[in-house]
Amino acid sequence: MREDYRNAVSRVDQDRLWRRHAEMAQIGAIPGNGVNRAALSKEDIAARSLLVSWARARGFGVLVDPIGNLFVRRPGLDADAPPVMTGSHMDSQPRGGRFDGIYGVLAGLEALEAIDETGVTTRRPIELVAWTNEEGGRFQPCTMGSAVYAGARRLEEFLDVRDNEGVALGDALRETLAATPEAGSRDFNAPAAAYIEAHIEQGPLLEQAGKPIGIVTGIQGQRWFNVEVSGRTDHAGTTPVGLRRDAVRDAIAIISALQELTRDPTDTTRFTVGRMLVTPNSPNSVASHVLFSVDVRHPEPATIKRLGDAVEGVARKAAARCDVKVHPTLVHDPCLFDSSVMDVLERAANGLELPNMRLPSGAGHDAMYMARVCPAAMIFVPCENGVSHNEAENAKPEDLAAGARVLAAALLELAND
Ligand code: GLV
Ligand code: MN
Ligand code: MN
Repeated sequence: MREDYRNAVSRVDQDRLWRRHAEMAQIGAIPGNGVNRAALSKEDIAARSLLVSWARARGFGVLVDPIGNLFVRRPGLDADAPPVMTGSHMDSQPRGGRFDGIYGVLAGLEALEAIDETGVTTRRPIELVAWTNEEGGRFQPCTMGSAVYAGARRLEEFLDVRDNEGVALGDALRETLAATPEAGSRDFNAPAAAYIEAHIEQGPLLEQAGKPIGIVTGIQGQRWFNVEVSGRTDHAGTTPVGLRRDAVRDAIAIISALQELTRDPTDTTRFTVGRMLVTPNSPNSVASHVLFSVDVRHPEPATIKRLGDAVEGVARKAAARCDVKVHPTLVHDPCLFDSSVMDVLERAANGLELPNMRLPSGAGHDAMYMARVCPAAMIFVPCENGVSHNEAENAKPEDLAAGARVLAAALLELAND
C-alpha cells in the first residue's frame, strides 16, 4: 500500500467512530438499546442534521436530490471525473439496532475525514451518500432512494405511498427536504466511478470464522408484495360462520398456502409476512379487510422468479370467500458484485493485515441498485451472534474501525485510478 494511503488509513479514529454511533443512537432511542428512526420522520431529519453538521465542520460539500438522498463530497483534482461513492442508510426498522445502515454512513464519513486530515489528494471526488428509505419499514418498498437514483424506479411512483397512519410519502419528503436548507441540490443518476458500501453482516459467519472483514460477493434475489383481502364486516356473535366473508380467515389460508409454496428443506428460501393491517381491528367485528406484506428471497435467479411469479395465483386460489388483490412492490434479481472492486477490497484488507473472507449477503442493500450503474461491492464487519433488525444488535468498536480502514484504503485506490 502507498505510504500516503497508509498514513491516511492510520487516521481512522476508532473512538470518534464509536462516539458518533452512540450520538446517532440517541436519535430515536428505544428501550433495549435499540433505535426507531423511520424514514422521513422527525428522527430521520435529526440524524440528517447531525450528519450535515459533521460534514460542514470539516468543510465538505453537502447536496441533496429530490428523493432526499444526502451526499457529502470531498472534491478531487479533476472536478469533472465521476466520483467514487460510498454510503448506506440512516433510517432503521421500528425495533432496529444501532448499526444497521448508520454504520456504512459513519464509516464513510470516518474514511473521508481520515483522508482529509492527511491532505492526500485524489483525482476523483469521493462522495458519501445516505440513501433515503432503505428499510421500507414505514413506506414500502425498501431501497427507494437508491432505486430512484439508479433510474430503476421513478420518484412519482412513490409519492402517494402511505404509512400505517395514512401519511403520504410525498408530504413527509417535503418536510424532510425543508429541514436541510443548507444542502445544494443535485439530480439523480450522476455517473459514478464505483460504489462501496460498508455494513454489519447481520448474520453469524464472520463471527464464527473469527474474521473482522467480509468481502461481499453479491445479494440474493428478493420479491415483495402487498396482498389485500377484502370481505365484509359483521357481528362476531350473531353472524353464522358459513355466511361470513371474513378477511382474517382468508388471509390465514393465503399465508398457509404461501408457506407451502416456499417450503424448502434446505432452508435456502426465505419467506416472511412481517406487516399486517386489519380493519376494523376490533375483537367482536369480523374483519372486512386485511393488508399484509410478503417478502420472498432466494439466491438463484430461476428459483426466485418461479416463486415470485407464483405468489398471485397461489393467493387467489387459497381465498375462500373474499376478494384478493396482489400488488408487487419490489422485484430484485440476485446481484453479483464487481470482481475488480472485490479485489481492491481484498488487497486493502490484506495490506492492513486484516483477516478476511468472501461471503454472500442474505439481506438487501442499496448496493444492489448501485451495482446496476457502476462497479460495486460491499464490506461486512461482524455483529454479535449475527443478530439484526432487533434492538440487541451489537458490534465491536475495533471491528467497525477495521471496516472503515479497509474502506478508506479502497476509496483512495479507486479515486486515483
Ligand atoms: C434490509 O434491511 C433487508 O430487508 O434486507
Ligand atoms: Mn441496512
Ligand atoms: Mn435493515
